Amino acid sequence: MRSAKDFFAPLAVGAPAPLREIPARPSRAIHFFDPGNEKMAAKVPDMVGTVDVLLGNLEDAVKAENKEIAREGLVKIGQSVANLGSTSGPTQFWTRINSLDSPWVLDDLTTLVPAIGEKLDVIMVPKVQGAEDIHYIDRILAQLEAKAGITKPLQVHAILETARGVANIEEICAASPRMQGLSLGPADLAADRRMKTTRVGGGHPGYLVRQDPPRNELDVPVYDADRTTYQQDLWHYTIARMVDACAMHGIYPYYGPFGDIKDEVACEDQFRNAFLLGCVGAWSLHPVQIKIANRVFSPSVEDVKHARRVIAAMGDGTGAVMLDGKMEDDASVKQCKVMVALAEQLAA
Ligand code: GLV
Ligand code: MG
Repeated sequence: MRSAKDFFAPLAVGAPAPLREIPARPSRAIHFFDPGNEKMAAKVPDMVGTVDVLLGNLEDAVKAENKEIAREGLVKIGQSVANLGSTSGPTQFWTRINSLDSPWVLDDLTTLVPAIGEKLDVIMVPKVQGAEDIHYIDRILAQLEAKAGITKPLQVHAILETARGVANIEEICAASPRMQGLSLGPADLAADRRMKTTRVGGGHPGYLVRQDPPRNELDVPVYDADRTTYQQDLWHYTIARMVDACAMHGIYPYYGPFGDIKDEVACEDQFRNAFLLGCVGAWSLHPVQIKIANRVFSPSVEDVKHARRVIAAMGDGTGAVMLDGKMEDDASVKQCKVMVALAEQLAA
């Protein structure tokens, strides 16, 4: 298990608590493409530099009969597209392999690692149920990397999309030093939980609370069918759980897919909720969602300006000051430092 000292500087008595590391490289939008789709694959070279992560998807949304074509397409892209992936470059190169209960996953790994293992940054593993799934991937990757002479270990990202996976979230995060992060997989998770929804991520108009009824002069509630209702976030619990587990283990949480491509406003709301709760990025299923994710997962100019003011006003970071009528103290400085560090990292 990864220990906290791998991520945090040692605590000095009286010093502010250390910050969790921000992503080593920005990963605000993880843009999915089907590497077996010639039209999509042809666009990849031009997308390098326009998005933080390009992910060649081999799992769901790729038809069973196209699995090999997709895998071969991914290898071709990895071998031919300049500036994609590896440790520097403007755009990371990820893949989502098939799930461990599928007939394709072993071929995915044994093909991809020797062919493009040096180029790939992160392997996303779907439907992870527990630490044993990560151990399995970890051991196979170690063997394949050793055989191919690859010295940079591939990182592993788990999709949280089964009830069992959610229940085992802590051990999944801690299962290997390769663990880079977790994504919420709302579509599969909804099915696995027997939720009564039929969509890919986002809210639902039926999941709401209703304002209290008005009361008459005798203080008796009066029935009013038109009372204001507030739609609730179906994913709040899981995202919060994911953020805590990731923070504890020093890895990164992400919102997953938002399927209603045309509803850019709701997509932005969902991504923003995730950002505010601590996520560092989200999936993009269409170029329009890259723009949304880049905007949402970058702190706003006003927030960064305010954060810098608080840090400056707090001097050595201890004690308390009043700023614009609000109390600021050690804890608000720490929040402000998270904001400024992210802004600086994105600007670098
Ligand atoms: C993603 O894979 C999901 O199931 O939502
Ligand atoms: Mg899924």
